[in-house]
Amino acid sequence: MKYITFNEESKVFTLRTKYSMYQMQVRDYGTLVHVYYGENIGDTEAAYRIICLDRGFSGNPYEAGEDRTFSLDVLPQEYSGYGNGDYRINALEMVHEDGSDATHLRYESYRMMEGKYSLDRLPAMYGSADEAETLEITLYDRITSLKVHLLYGVFHDLDIITRAVRIENKGEKTVTIQRAMSMEMDYPSRHMDLIHFYGRHSMERLTERMPLCHGVQSIESKRGMSSHQHNPFVILCDRMTSEKHGDCYGFALAYSGNFRCEIEVDQMEQTRLVMGIHPYHFSYRLKKGDVFEAPEVIMAYTRKGIGRLSRIYHDAYRSNLIRSKYVTAPRPVLVNNWEATYFDFNEEKLYNIAKAAKDIGLDMFVLDDGWFGKRNTDYSGLGDWVVNEDKIKGGLPKLVKRIKALGMKFGIWIEPEMVSEDSDLYRSHPDWTLRIPQRSMTRSRHQLNLDITRKEVRDYVMQQIFRVLDSCEADYVKWDMNRSVANVYSSALPPERQGEVFHRYVLGVYEMMEQLVTRYPDLLFENCCGGGGRFDAGMLYYSPQIWCSDNTDAIDRLKIQYGTSFGYPISTMGAHVSVCPNHQTGRTTPLETRAVVASAGTFGYELDLEHLTEEEKEIARKQIQEYKKIEHLIQTGDYFRLSDPFHNHDYVIWQFVSKDKKQTVVNGVQLRNEPNPHIHLIYLEGLDGQAHYKDVQTGAVYTGAALMNAGIPLPVGAGDYQPIQFQFQMIEDTDNDGAVTVRK
Ligand code: GLA
Repeated sequence: MKYITFNEESKVFTLRTKYSMYQMQVRDYGTLVHVYYGENIGDTEAAYRIICLDRGFSGNPYEAGEDRTFSLDVLPQEYSGYGNGDYRINALEMVHEDGSDATHLRYESYRMMEGKYSLDRLPAMYGSADEAETLEITLYDRITSLKVHLLYGVFHDLDIITRAVRIENKGEKTVTIQRAMSMEMDYPSRHMDLIHFYGRHSMERLTERMPLCHGVQSIESKRGMSSHQHNPFVILCDRMTSEKHGDCYGFALAYSGNFRCEIEVDQMEQTRLVMGIHPYHFSYRLKKGDVFEAPEVIMAYTRKGIGRLSRIYHDAYRSNLIRSKYVTAPRPVLVNNWEATYFDFNEEKLYNIAKAAKDIGLDMFVLDDGWFGKRNTDYSGLGDWVVNEDKIKGGLPKLVKRIKALGMKFGIWIEPEMVSEDSDLYRSHPDWTLRIPQRSMTRSRHQLNLDITRKEVRDYVMQQIFRVLDSCEADYVKWDMNRSVANVYSSALPPERQGEVFHRYVLGVYEMMEQLVTRYPDLLFENCCGGGGRFDAGMLYYSPQIWCSDNTDAIDRLKIQYGTSFGYPISTMGAHVSVCPNHQTGRTTPLETRAVVASAGTFGYELDLEHLTEEEKEIARKQIQEYKKIEHLIQTGDYFRLSDPFHNHDYVIWQFVSKDKKQTVVNGVQLRNEPNPHIHLIYLEGLDGQAHYKDVQTGAVYTGAALMNAGIPLPVGAGDYQPIQFQFQMIEDTDNDGAVTVRK
């Protein structure tokens, strides 16, 4: 074991990544205390920082006898129980058969393993023996014989530590878990900010930064999905931390259902963060021998600022979370017919869009909602996964054959978790939906959640869908989910297990997705949830890309994609060029600007290409060619946010740099033009300061140091919403024979 050690004498565990270090210690009465998480501190054990004093109104465990200085109420801990004298937010809570609810966890043992642990039925980062090591620490509750295994995955080179929890009932009696957080992190007295990502449908992952205040604050979803409203990724950082400098910590929950991240600043100015499944409407019964696993939290720390923290996540997800070959393979650039036709199409219309797409150099046609059952509006049809031959005459295989004959790939939209009341499926199986006995249902987009906690429901739906995918040899699937989960009750579960429905729903989704990716390993799979309502690390385990937002307006997308970039790789964000005036905002922006914004993501088009003028087609043709030239930078390079759209209202700029630093693309949008304008300088990042770089458009040559420290001026006076595009290529000094102008 290279990166995990246990000091038998001091009882300190140390986990090391390239630049970070994590320590915990077994202290008095088997208490597992959190000691340190931060920059590498060499061979020092930071346990000296923990000073125990007699604290008024903070009780002491009975075993402490006369010692009034040992109190769980103030000690930093790894995973706190309940009803044991710690009054702060806690990690684990259960009810026992006798109605009592105290849980007191003590250290029992540890084991270390090469490679990364995996979870049963839950997404998690993966890693071979060369990439990761695992530490498992077992805590136990003496009275109930409950074992709590704390799992730590250490990815040294990636600078990532993951955590998850496995709870095992070793006793004779049933226990009911009321709260099982995936992790807890205790910080000593320190003033920190919270950065989180809030929003709403069509305006997801907006960025908010605020100082932590005394008491408890939480970021959460109770909607059965990770949600448009909050995202299961948060950052804690020092007050002075910026993009380029300062201490920051990331916490990403790899889970796509209800979640809660709670943060408490306590009486001693200490901060505790817990993250995991939301305790709302949650309970889980563990009979003798049963096991429950809490989903994974992916943690990163750096002292090099928030930009660096994002790049740690980008690299980690691309190499050890996303499983698809498309994480690095070029992705077909697609056209999607949703904003072009909505429900109003026939086979000729679709074929003509595909033909126009081929003409401008696109690779794939995606048939969105409306192709199945009686799906002529969003009031009907979900659940009937058979092609609507009134709309697509001759059937889907025939149409797809024609489209493929153009040399195009074919993709299709599905929404497997749902049913419309007006559908054959609902008429024959009304009991297959989530539904609270005797109560009227909450509708949303006139559709209901199927009870996918039931295996027969999952299998039925997937069989229907597989039949369609097989018949058209689909190259791509867009899996949608267009309502929050409500009416939370499953007729297949007994009353005492109704608290499991939300979680079993998510496990059902994961099982269905696993079936899909196992059956079609080469499929390009895009997740969607009314845009970005399930944009989380859990989903990225199944699909390399997620439709970022139903809002395709280039200007709004600047904020949405900026916020998303904090926790997720750029190549995971589905982003399309759509028509103007934009359907969501009514705003008009130049076609070039729409392409610049969409190419900071998984690029595609979503408009009626037949209606483009010849001039626009020519512009689009060039955009597609240009995108293909820089796609590898987006998929594998480093990403830098050069401006903040929440504070800078003049322009938004970002930058991609290849890992070998030889190529860089600087893109952005000028938001507002002004008369008599300022000269705005932008400062590049991530280049080799010693090397020379040539501006691909003008031929001018600069040192990397000049581009980063002296900056480059933005174009002047171009108008509102104008695209900004620079590309620089490193030139070998020996090649610099005077043919290029060196800027003085
Ligand atoms: C959701 C998706 C859209 C589109 C529609 C179809 O809103 O996010 O992209 O697929 O559903 O109903």
